[in-house]
Amino acid sequence: MGPTRSKLHKEVVENLGAPSVAVRCATPEDAPVCGQICFDAFHKISTDHGFPPDFPSPDVAVGLLSMMFSHPGFYCVVAESDGRMVGSNCLDERSAIAGLGPITVDPSIQNRGVGWKLMEAVLVRARERNFPGVRLLQSAFHNRSLALYSRLGFDAREPVSVMQGPPLRKQIEGCSIRPAQVSDIENCKRLCMQVHGHDRAGELADAIKAGTALVVERHARITGYATALAFFGHAVAETNLDLQALIASAESFAGPGIIVPTRNSDLFRWCLENGLRVVQPMTLMTSGLYNEPAGAYLPSVLF
Ligand SMILES: CC(C)(COP(=O)(O)OP(=O)(O)OC[C@H]1O[C@@H](n2cnc3c(N)ncnc32)[C@H](O)[C@@H]1OP(=O)(O)O)[C@@H](O)C(=O)NCCC(=O)NCCS
Repeated sequence: MGPTRSKLHKEVVENLGAPSVAVRCATPEDAPVCGQICFDAFHKISTDHGFPPDFPSPDVAVGLLSMMFSHPGFYCVVAESDGRMVGSNCLDERSAIAGLGPITVDPSIQNRGVGWKLMEAVLVRARERNFPGVRLLQSAFHNRSLALYSRLGFDAREPVSVMQGPPLRKQIEGCSIRPAQVSDIENCKRLCMQVHGHDRAGELADAIKAGTALVVERHARITGYATALAFFGHAVAETNLDLQALIASAESFAGPGIIVPTRNSDLFRWCLENGLRVVQPMTLMTSGLYNEPAGAYLPSVLF
């Protein structure tokens, strides 16, 4: 039998004088350095292409990674080379499908195999934990990450648009919105199962605790929910009307914006007509189990 793809890759990069890299589990103490790298990496790739960076300041990236590196529902790794940290990656293990990211590598050492190793580390973990699928969102203008993820087995599934704008502050007739409660989790799980074929209860439970989750009801029945109307939140609903009611109720869209599946033309057009503007295109990529959604949804930046 010939060498595996991974071994071949290692030999090739070693022959080219690639840096020696070790990958280990992240600790909360790694967050300040990794957060700075995360900020620098996104800032460079986005500004090189004329897009606004995903993180407005290093502090925001440090805050996010501090949360992920200390949360028991995330598996996070860092890469070290010559005794210094050069990148990190995370796997969100809170729900039935694992979400991957943010993966970032110090811009001074990119394109030399570090990203590949950080990807392999979390994909091995996902296999060990028997996740039926792993998903991520890829910046559509970034050729390198598209090539990297595709070669590691991810399929491009859905073009999406990050959208931002002033809050709509509207009510949609027939829909009522209220904060989600722990007692709503079972109904929301069922709804997510119906639309996606799996639930995202772990993320919803965290969002209820954080006070960002909302449900929409029609005829006294839950017809949709959102963990947050934000870059890091997802929403699932029976219809576009339910999603519109959730979007229209938001006080703001945290982070770069909400993520709208571009092929959902009615919803996409409705967002445009209501003053939201496209910030950047992304692509939902999946590996393993995937069902074509049977309803309306907004992915989070994880999936
Ligand atoms: C994405 C990122 C993590 C990848 O890490 P990296 O260390 O640069 O990536 P690697 O060197 O391991 O792998 C990149 C591969 O893509 C290949 N590649 C790069 N540009 C390519 C292109 N235009 N077409 C095809 N392949 C390409 C490289 O040749 C390399 O493969 P090889 O090692 O077999 O030659 C890193 O570039 C980064 O931090 N980017 C900014 C932040 C970001 O965008 N994160 C991802 C969010 S979606």
